[in-house]
Formats: sequence, structure tokens, C-alpha cells
Amino acid sequence: MKDSLILALETTCDETSAAVLKNGSEVVKNVVYTQIDIHKKYAGVVPELASRAHAAKIAGVVKEALGPLKPDYIAFANGPGLPGGLLVGRVAAETLAEFYGAPIIGVNHLEGHLYACELTSTPKLDPLEFPLISLIVSGGHTELWLVKGYGQYKLLGKTRDDAAGEAFDKVAKLLGLGYPGGPQVSAQALKGDSKAIKFPRPFMPGTFEFSFSGLKTAVSYYLRDHKDINIANVCASFQTAVVETLVKKTVEAAKKYKVKYIAVGGGVAANELLKSTMIEEAKKAGIKARFVDRRLSSDNAAMIALCASKKLQYGAAKGKININPNMTLRNWKKK
Ligand code: KG4
Ligand code: ZN
Repeated sequence: MKDSLILALETTCDETSAAVLKNGSEVVKNVVYTQIDIHKKYAGVVPELASRAHAAKIAGVVKEALGPLKPDYIAFANGPGLPGGLLVGRVAAETLAEFYGAPIIGVNHLEGHLYACELTSTPKLDPLEFPLISLIVSGGHTELWLVKGYGQYKLLGKTRDDAAGEAFDKVAKLLGLGYPGGPQVSAQALKGDSKAIKFPRPFMPGTFEFSFSGLKTAVSYYLRDHKDINIANVCASFQTAVVETLVKKTVEAAKKYKVKYIAVGGGVAANELLKSTMIEEAKKAGIKARFVDRRLSSDNAAMIALCASKKLQYGAAKGKININPNMTLRNWKKK
């Protein structure tokens, strides 16, 4: 890894990003163009508009990230994600790989969110400690994994319907707050009483699966059936129901599999209540919970570059690079 430069691309959803990672630890540049302004009037990501924006922005974002540097490897997130965005990422990555004569590395976007927990603001990494339970919470995914080491996974459970971030976005839409909903709902929640409304906790006992669509429906029924809505109270009560569910299941998984570490990544990891509650509840059980740095919780290419460097270190970076919108977790195999 010494002196090697990885150029990574991220185009799976609504951020067009390119990053350069040096020596497997130093983020030289992480350029993120967010498409929020394009999608906010629809209160959600419009796939066709997302792919057009990726196609329009990717060259400029790469140019800004790379400057005069010459990359040794080209990485890109090849799934899961929206097909149009993935295609833009693949064409750009293959063109760059051909131009620079550099090998190409495909990275699972969700693994990127996990390893992003190691990135600090200094060139040094803060390595994960294994075995750990990983909670990946984003706009598209809510998954619990047992991670025994780099590239060694067992999927414990995922959401059967809406992802946690999606539930935040949909509740924000019901309340007429802006998009993305997570930051809006959590800002409102600060002013509200979390005990004001008793929304259901979708605990799904006996499984490590999640289900947030019933909770979202409970919010919509509450809004339909009540006059004089206190938006802050709705937000605080909803947020607490989501956070309690995520924390309970994650800590339960850590206890069941007798692991001492929890790592939380993905856009919803920026939620302050989730962070403080998880750290506190884990601590009571002698477990150390850590969160991705807030600035790197949402989609970015630095996390894709870091995961690519891990794959290189573990001899798992080669192979055919197909895009896969429904990509699932796979254990790394030495190539
Ligand atoms: O990881 P991410 O940037 O994109 C996906 O891969 O989906 O996650 C975006 C999601 C959105 O649903 C957004 O509402 C949510 O993360 N989010 C939050 C917060 N900040 C962003 N959810 C709850 N609280 C927040 N503070
Ligand atoms: Zn993501």
C-alpha cells in the first residue's frame, strides 16, 4: 500500500463523489456533489434525474479530486444502488482505468459505510476491533451484521420493508418538512417531548429483522385523527421509537454473539439521539459502540477508497466487476 494512490467513485444514489486515498489511510481529497437540490421538490430521489446528474457531474468531480495526481488503482461502488447511477460509475471507472492503465476494484457500498468508521480527521486510521456487530442505517438499508474480521460477515437481519432513513424521510414528507427528512425531523425533535405520543416499537421479537413501515403508518394515522398537531412532539416521539428499536436490537445481537464492539455507519448514524443512546446502552452491557464521523456518515467516495484498500491488503480486490443494484454481502475470497 506504501505510496499507492486509489481514486474511488461513488454514484449509487444521490451523491456524485470522487476521492483520493494515499497509502491506505490518508484521504488526500474527498469531493462530494450532493443532488439534494434536484430531488427535494419531489421529497425523495427520482432515479432518472439522479442518473442524469451523475452523468453531468462525474467528470468535474473526478478532476477536482485528482488534480495532477496519477492513480494506481480505480475503485467504484458497484452496488447496491440505483441502476442508472451504477452504470455512470462503471463507465467512468472503466474509462479512467483504461486511461491510466490502472486495475479496477469494485466495492460494495454498504461495506464502505462500515469501514468509514475507521476514518479520522488525521492521516491515521482508527482500526475497527473484531469481532463486532455492525449496524448499517441509511436511506436505502437497515442491516445488522456480525463481522468477524475484514471481509468476514454474517448477515443477522435487515428491514422487511422501509429502511430507517426512509421512515425519517416519509414522516418528514407527511409533516411537510423538507428533504432529506432525517436532519429536519431530528432538529424538530429537539424542541419536542418524546413521551407525548406512544408510537409502536417494531421490535420483531426472536429475530434481528426490522420493519419501519407500520411505524410510519402509525404516524400518518395520528396526523389524520388529531387536530392541533404539535410537530415537535410528533418528531420527538417518532425518533425515539426508531432509536429504541435500533439500539435494542443491536445491543441484543452483541450480547447473543458475545462481542464487545459495535460499529454504526450510514446516513442515519448522524442522528445524535441514536449515537448517545447506543453508546450508553452498550456501555451498560460492557460493550463499546462507535459511530462513523458525522462528516462521513452520508454517501462519499472516501469510504469506497478505504474499503478498496482493505480489499487490496487482503488479496480480495481482483475479479470481474459487474454492477449489481441488489448486491448483498459476500465474504471476501482471496483471488
Ligand atoms: O447513507 P445515506 O447518505 O444514503 C443512502 O445510502 O441511503 O443516508 C441518507 C439517509 C436519509 O434517509 C436521511 O434522511 C438520513 O440518512 N439521515 C438522518 C439524519 N441525517 C441523515 N436520519 C436521521 N437523523 C439524522 N440526523
Ligand atoms: Zn449509503
